[in-house]
Amino acid sequence: MLTVFVPKERAGGETRVAITPAAVKSLVKRNIQVRIEAGAGRGAHCVDADYEGAGAGLVADGDIDAAWSEADMVLKVDSPSLDEVAKLREGAVLISFLDPYRNHDLVALLRDRKVSSLAMELIPRISRAQSMDALSSQASIAGYKAALLVAANLDKYCPLLMTAAGTIKPARVVVMGAGVAGLQAVATAKRLGAIVEVSDIRPAVKEEVESLGGTFIELPMKESGEGEGGYARQVSGDFLKKQQAIVAEHVRQADAVITTALVPGKPAPRLVTEQMVKDMREGAVIVDLAVAQGGNCELSEKDQEVVRHGVLIIGPSNLPATMPLDASTVYGRNLVALVQLLVDKEGQLTIDLDDEVIAGALLTHDGTVHHKPTAEAMGEGDATGQGVGEESGKEAGA
Ligand code: NAI
Repeated sequence: MLTVFVPKERAGGETRVAITPAAVKSLVKRNIQVRIEAGAGRGAHCVDADYEGAGAGLVADGDIDAAWSEADMVLKVDSPSLDEVAKLREGAVLISFLDPYRNHDLVALLRDRKVSSLAMELIPRISRAQSMDALSSQASIAGYKAALLVAANLDKYCPLLMTAAGTIKPARVVVMGAGVAGLQAVATAKRLGAIVEVSDIRPAVKEEVESLGGTFIELPMKESGEGEGGYARQVSGDFLKKQQAIVAEHVRQADAVITTALVPGKPAPRLVTEQMVKDMREGAVIVDLAVAQGGNCELSEKDQEVVRHGVLIIGPSNLPATMPLDASTVYGRNLVALVQLLVDKEGQLTIDLDDEVIAGALLTHDGTVHHKPTAEAMGEGDATGQGVGEESGKEAGA
């Protein structure tokens, strides 16, 4: 019987768990034996008794090393440590966010230990893989929470209010980057009653922004920001300057700015300069969701709240961890959908390299780095992988 092990997440500030008790039930139905480290779900408020009730076996403190080395498959949220990977047996499967563009030591060890690793950030953005798309499930939470952070930290109401004491003007929010996180931030800020303006370099998102009630800030799109696979590509410094000049006026009038702009595999574009912050009103709020990739705002600091020129700048790198129950619920469903692709109803595991989703997400396999852009970045030219191109890579923990 295939054995799946779910360890506790040990990264600082992480509260999520790879699977919830409901996800355990789905795996058990597939004839999979599930073992979970005792207390692994505590941060997400999933209790051991519920895991046991769903059919999982609890692994006590003293048995964790053995659970790693006996597992046929390990499911995680954040990248495992090198020590953890060293415990995996040859041929084991690891599914997790793995941050392949930055985690070359980890990738090398996974390759050398002949682990078949699937990186959740490499799941192709195609319709068939939507149920496995953890970047989207987690980014959506980040966008929602970013809008709530704006509302909770602003010195004014978000909605237009007609009160006995007169009319209160609605808050003006500028959202930069209208991917999954940005669109959820737009939807949430609109629900709170704010006026929302949006900047993106992919003209295709204009319609989506307008359907949510946002106003799209038009840019002179001589240079299209549309890259491969629906992602943005890196635009020139000259273009960025023009974009900043256009967006600056909208930012100046805004009460809040939420930035979510990313270009896969590249540092986040600098969209909010120090001068733009200086020009904002005292008490304005900026939430920078791109902070783990260097930040969209020149003054944001990772996992810090700082006040610069009277503006509160919040740089949360892991907002999904602030909503761990739903973040783990949807992440667990993403994992189950992927496991169901790898394991048939009899519990038989197959890594089908002809399957576009599996081949796209496969980072290491059989002693090689299968994902071509990562192999190239590591100086391994002979990778066999069907990497879906450099444009497909994403950073972890959106
Ligand atoms: P992302 O996290 O890579 O980037 C966020 C946004 O930042 C993007 O909209 C991008 O265009 C924008 N951006 C980059 N540079 C910018 C700049 N200089 N100024 C303003 N904005 C800038 O994007 P995410 O959320 O991962 O989505 C990427 C694409 O994948 C989208 O088209 C999305 O609709 C698509 N997608 C497709 C799915 C599917 O078919 N299964 C599932 C999820 C997303």
